[in-house]
Amino acid sequence: MYFLKNYVLTKQPSYWFNHIQIPYTMMGLRKLFHTSNVLNSLPIRDGLPMRLLLLGSPGSGKGTQSSRIQRKFNISVISSGDLLRQNIARGTKIGKIAVKEIERGAYISDDIMIELITKELQNKQQNWLLDGFPRTINQAVVLDDRLAMTNRSLNLVINLHVPEDVILQRIMDRWVHVPSGRVYNLSYNPPKISGIDDITGEKLTKRSDDNPETFKIRLQKHRSLTEPLLEYYTKSNILITCYGRTSDEIYPQIERELLKRFGVGNFY
Ligand code: AP5
Ligand code: MG
Repeated sequence: MYFLKNYVLTKQPSYWFNHIQIPYTMMGLRKLFHTSNVLNSLPIRDGLPMRLLLLGSPGSGKGTQSSRIQRKFNISVISSGDLLRQNIARGTKIGKIAVKEIERGAYISDDIMIELITKELQNKQQNWLLDGFPRTINQAVVLDDRLAMTNRSLNLVINLHVPEDVILQRIMDRWVHVPSGRVYNLSYNPPKISGIDDITGEKLTKRSDDNPETFKIRLQKHRSLTEPLLEYYTKSNILITCYGRTSDEIYPQIERELLKRFGVGNFY
């Protein structure tokens, strides 16, 4: 009894947080939160920087989850789609190329994307999250090489798995604030005033690629060009997949996993 009491008292609160498992071995919950066994057995490293990538089909909630992760952990988010839309709004050279490709649901060339994102990454502090880049094997290989050169390799890839039947309606109901990348949905998280961004009071807009025809092409591109990344990152043992029909089901899984892997001490 004396030993047990002393053992409990000598451990930091984060130790108990990380070691007492929430009982998601129960059948249904386990299915909801499937992760790679190899990665699960890695030791917890308090102080490990977060270098994350969010993967998932168009409309799976990458932007929505990025905002929630950013709010909780105060990390930088780099969204390739938001950067392209900002370039379009400013009428830059990249914007002029991107506008046509995005409108028809095609991908922008690897060269342009690699330069755009790696430049952005140079200015970021140690904790960051990528949304939408890489999305081809070529982009992933070049990114890996460049990050390895500066000893900053990705350490967790989170794949959002949302059934396709729920995402088309989400896309149709989506409104965005281009300068910040904030995303609204008329039924899920509507703005306080219709058509207006909650924070800046500026106008919200519809995305040119949010229509059923373009969405079909985006899904096809995703299946053929981006899904192979799942195998690529499985081989590197840094992939987990979170399942759910809504972002509210998925976010707690992500948060729990981040706290478990990166420790709680870092962010408070
Ligand atoms: P990008 O902007 O990245 O688009 P995407 O990958 O198609 O993904 P989305 O932004 O459409 O969806 P999301 O997963 O972020 O979902 P969201 O959180 O908004 O890229 C656009 C284009 O840029 C590409 O098609 C390509 O042309 C180009 N591009 C970008 N990166 C590139 C690259 N690396 N290489 C080449 N080309 C590139 O959620 C969707 C909606 O659902 C929202 O309205 C949200 O409010 C709502 N929602 C979220 N959760 C819920 C819920 N629980 N219930 C109801 N609604 C919900
Ligand atoms: Mg997005």
